[in-house]
Amino acid sequence: MLYSDKVMEHFNNPRNVGILDEADGVGEVGNPTCGDMMKITIDVDDDTISDIKFQTLGCGAAIATSSMVTEMAKGMDIHDAVNITKKQVADELDGLPAPKMHCSVLATDGLKAAIDDYLVKQGREPIAGDIESNDPDFDPHEESDVELDE
Ligand code: FES
Repeated sequence: MLYSDKVMEHFNNPRNVGILDEADGVGEVGNPTCGDMMKITIDVDDDTISDIKFQTLGCGAAIATSSMVTEMAKGMDIHDAVNITKKQVADELDGLPAPKMHCSVLATDGLKAAIDDYLVKQGREPIAGDIESNDPDFDPHEESDVELDE
């Protein structure tokens, strides 16, 4: 299995690692396939993600995708950030090997959960819809078409 240089770079030097004290939103998700877990905390100003940090207990691909999704989401309006897809995250990392595509779900689901937590805490309606990794019918290998070009 071959990882891109970008995946390796984010794995070795993950961005935005940690937990925000008194975060405006907290998302915690687990990958049912492997048992790995991720927590994302966000600060939000005027519906814009002003700061974001993550902790991931998982494989290298989970850590790299978590790192990348925090970079993508920082400074974004929550209504745009909630639509970041696992394919976009994988593309930003120059692809993931097909067997590791399911790992990127943790990152996008963790972000969605944090955004919804922020909205619910404010008494607003959640917008993320279904959290994919919480679905018992979730097939982690369904979208395995994004592969690393060799
Ligand atoms: Fe668990 Fe990658 S093997 S998230």
